[in-house]
Amino acid sequence: MDLTLAIIKPDAVEGRKIGRILAQLEDAGFSIRAAKFVQLDEPQAGAFYAVHSERPFYEPLKRFMTSGPILALALEHEDAVTRLRKVIGATDPAEAEPGTVRAQYAESKERNAIHASDSDETARQELSFFFSSRELMGAA
Ligand code: CMP
Repeated sequence: MDLTLAIIKPDAVEGRKIGRILAQLEDAGFSIRAAKFVQLDEPQAGAFYAVHSERPFYEPLKRFMTSGPILALALEHEDAVTRLRKVIGATDPAEAEPGTVRAQYAESKERNAIHASDSDETARQELSFFFSSRELMGAA
């Protein structure tokens, strides 16, 4: 079984969507192996999204991701990265398959409720950004 990282973003935390999103992830077969509420500061959000540092949405993305608490999750499933990306749907909720997390809970491409790692390598990096190896002990 593989692990991947998800983040329930400030819009969904503020909108009290955490319970519904976690239920949907568990119903899709994911096991929650670690979970942590975090309020990122600007340098942390910048480091997490460093791959987007040249993109026009980098500054607004940092502002949004530091605007309130987020819930970081280590999720376990066979083929976890691919599976989670299917369950959350496209970045833009207008393009997300009906029934996906973003189709249901995202407001826009910017305020899109949830993040998921996009490859196994990114998942390893993003899991270690939020969780120590001790906190992931017992997970796959
Ligand atoms: P996420 O999966 O967290 O990864 C990068 C984030 O940048 C993405 O979700 C969106 O919330 C945000 N973003 C804002 N504008 C855009 C855009 N034009 N294209 C892609 N991502 C965007």
